[in-house]
Order: sequence, then structure tokens, then C-alpha cells
Amino acid sequence: MVKACPSILSADMVNLERDVRALAPVGADYIHVDVMDGMFVPNFAFGLSTVAALRPITDLTLDVHLMIDRPIRYVERFCDAGADILTIHVEADTAEHTHEALRRIRAKGVRAGLSIKPATPAEAVLPYLDEVSLILVMTVEPGFGGQSFMEDMMPKITAIRRWIQEKGLSCEVEVDGGINTATGKTCVEAGADVLVAGSAFFKAPDKAAFVKELHALGAE
Ligand code: DX5
Ligand code: ZN
Repeated sequence: MVKACPSILSADMVNLERDVRALAPVGADYIHVDVMDGMFVPNFAFGLSTVAALRPITDLTLDVHLMIDRPIRYVERFCDAGADILTIHVEADTAEHTHEALRRIRAKGVRAGLSIKPATPAEAVLPYLDEVSLILVMTVEPGFGGQSFMEDMMPKITAIRRWIQEKGLSCEVEVDGGINTATGKTCVEAGADVLVAGSAFFKAPDKAAFVKELHALGAE
């Protein structure tokens, strides 16, 4: 089944606890938490204290997406704060530091993820494929919710899915940016199995129905 992963970047910030507690009852699989440092991306969002505050109020998987420069400096602290999946960007540091950051995440018993921005070719993930549990393909420029889906990223999803299969790995392929039920279908057809949705989820009048539609995409 395709996993539905609401991004709380689009939640109501003054009612974050209410919005997070409402996710399990509507069938969400992961909670996507975007961390932005104002350097790697031109915006700020969430941080260590957010992850630590959310940990005791939900049993859902906390899927933390670090959009920060040189994440090696902070990965262990995000693991300790309560991340279940911790994703860093391949563009955010040297290859040596990226391998080491992924190793530190795994050493904490946390699932390691690696993300690529729209301008980064799929091949950039190849050296890390057997070190990660999840590859996150961005379908918008990271930094803001509510942007338009970039359909031209689909060949990257397909290539990464093929490499995972060829190598016999169990890595998930997650997509983030402009996902709704229509664009989600396109991603699943290309090979994705985890769909992040921020604005489309929080705008949906019937959130349980929205999640159900995403879940069903894999079965079509
Ligand atoms: C953007 C973030 C996304 C964002 C997606 O940089 O990584 O997780 O919340 O928002 P939508 O679904 O509105 O594009
Ligand atoms: Zn994200």
C-alpha cells in the first residue's frame, strides 16, 4: 500500500498539537516534519524542539526532512529528539560527510534517508543506495509549501526504483512537493511508494477520504 505522509508545514501553527493528534485517526502513515535553516533553503521551519515536543504526543512515524547546510552537525541530536526517519540532502555537504552523517543516523537505530533537489540528477543517490532506507525525490524547489508539482522529475523516480530493485534493496521512494491525488497517482505510476502532502492534505475537506485515495493508488 502507498503510504500517506502529511507535511505539518501546512498545519495550523498555533494549533499544532490538535493538528498532529488528528493525523492517526484519519489513517496517516508518517508525519513529515520539515526542518529549514534559512541557509540551505530561503526559509525557516521547525527544529529540534519541535521534534522533541511531538514525540510524546504521537505513535506515528516521525519522518524528519532536514533542509539544512552540513547536516552532519545535527543528525545525532535529531535522532535523540525522536526522529524515526531522518533525511538529509545530498547537496548539503561533501560526499565524505554525507556517508558519515548517514552512518551516524543508522548507528542511532534511526532509518536514514537521502533527498535530491530538482536540479540534482538521480545518479547522485547511487553511491549511498545501500546505506539508506528511503530516497526522497523533491518535486518542487525545497523551502515552501503550496508550489506546483514538477512532473519532469518522474524519470528520476523510475530510475531510482529500478536501481533499488536491481540491487535487491528494500528502500522506500518518497516524493515531496505539490502532491495531491492526481499528481500522487503520477508518482506512484513512476515508482514512488511514500507520498508527502502538505497543502493538499490540510485543505482537504475530508482528510480520511484524501488519505484513503492515496492509499488506493498503489492498488490501481
Ligand atoms: C517543501 C517541503 C514540503 C512541503 C510540501 O520544501 O519539503 O514537505 O511541506 O508542501 P506541498 O505539499 O504544499 O507542496
Ligand atoms: Zn519536506
